[in-house]
Amino acid sequence: MKIVLAYSGGLDTTVSIRWLKEKYQADVITVSVDVGQKEDFKKLEERAYIAGSSKHYTIDAKEEFVEKFVKYDIIMNGLYEDVYPLSTALARPLIAEKVVEIAKKEGTEYVAHGSTSKGNDQVRFDLAIKAHMPDAKIITPARSWDMTRETEIKYAKERGIPIKEESSKYSIDENLWGRSIEGDIIEDPSKEVPEDAFELTRKTSTKNKEKIIITFEKGVPVALNGEKMPLLNLIDNLNKIAGSLGFGRVDHLENRVVGFKSREVYEAPAALCLIYAHKDLEKTVYTPLELRFKKSIDSQWSDLVYQGLWYEPLRETLQKVGVDMNNWVTGEVEVEIGENGLRILGRNSPYSPYSDKIASYNKGWYPTEEMAKGFIEIWGMHSLLARKVRSS
Ligand code: ARG
Repeated sequence: MKIVLAYSGGLDTTVSIRWLKEKYQADVITVSVDVGQKEDFKKLEERAYIAGSSKHYTIDAKEEFVEKFVKYDIIMNGLYEDVYPLSTALARPLIAEKVVEIAKKEGTEYVAHGSTSKGNDQVRFDLAIKAHMPDAKIITPARSWDMTRETEIKYAKERGIPIKEESSKYSIDENLWGRSIEGDIIEDPSKEVPEDAFELTRKTSTKNKEKIIITFEKGVPVALNGEKMPLLNLIDNLNKIAGSLGFGRVDHLENRVVGFKSREVYEAPAALCLIYAHKDLEKTVYTPLELRFKKSIDSQWSDLVYQGLWYEPLRETLQKVGVDMNNWVTGEVEVEIGENGLRILGRNSPYSPYSDKIASYNKGWYPTEEMAKGFIEIWGMHSLLARKVRSS
C-alpha cells in the first residue's frame, strides 16, 4: 500500500509520516509544495526521510500559485471578514492538486494530509482532493489519533524524529501571500500578541514610512515605483519593503467554517498593500453602480474561498465577472506605508470618469439653478411623499 502525504515539515505532518507507516504498514510518499514559504526544502526532505518517508517530492508551485490564485485575490479584493487576505485558504486547493498529481503518478488512491478536525484546512483539503480525484481515500492522522501537541513531541523524541524548534510554541502556516500564527498565548484574545510571533513585519528599516507607486494593468499590479516586474517578484519585493517598515499585521477574532471563533494573527504586507491600492483604483474607475455591485461579489467570492469552496461553480462565475470589470482597472496608485498603516496619497487612470472641469469649484461647468432645483425636486420625491403620509 502506498500513501501520498502532503508534507509541510511541521510537527503534525512529521509525526504523521511515522504514524502512517506504523499503522498501515505502508510506503509513505511525501510531497512538499513550495508556495513561497521561507523553508529550507533540503532540510525538509532530510527530515521526511528520517521520519520514515520512502520517497519525497518537492514541487515548486510559486508561479502557479501567483497566476492561478493570488492574482484573483487582488482582482476580487479578497479579504475574509474584511481583514484576512486568504493566504492559507488560497494555497490549500493548489497543494491538494499537486498531491493528487503525485498520487496518480504513483498509482494510488490513498492521500493523506495533516489537518486536525478543528480547523478550516481539513475542509479545503478534503474538498479539493475530491475535486481532482473523486474516488480518493483520504487519511488524516491528526483527526484520528488522540495526541496533544505535547504527546506528539514526545512521540517524535522517542523515535528520534527531528522537529522544528518553533513547533513547540505557535502553529504557523506561511506562503508568499502571508503568514498565519496561531496557538500558545495568542489563544487569549484579550492579550497583546507577543513580538516573537512575528517574522515578516519586524521593523528593521531605519525609516518610519515610505512612499510607493503601484502600477496596475487590468487590475493586476505590473510595476513598483515605475519598474516593471513579474507579479511574483513584485510581491516578494513589496513584502520586504512593507514588512521591514512594520506594516502588514492583522489580529482579529475569526469566524471559522467549523462553528467557532478563534483568534487569528497574520502578517501579509504585500497582500494588504496591493488590495488596498487596487480597491482605490477600482473606485477611481467604476460608476457608482459598478462599485456597489463589485463590493458584493468580492465579499461572496472571499467567503467561498475561505469556506473551502474553491471548486464551487459560483466562485468561478463571480471571478469571471470580476476579471471582466477589471478590464478598465489600469492606472497608478501612490501609497505611504508605515507601522501605523497605509495611506493613499494619489491615484490616476486613463479610464477614470473623474473630470476636474466638472468637479472644480473654481472653474468650468455649473448646472443652471433651474436644472439643480428640478433635479432635486424629483430626486427627493419618494422620500418626502413617504414622510408625509407617515406623519399624518
Ligand atoms: N485561520 C486561517 C485560515 O483558516 C489560517 C489557518 C492556518 N492553518 C494552519 N494549519 N496553521 O485560513
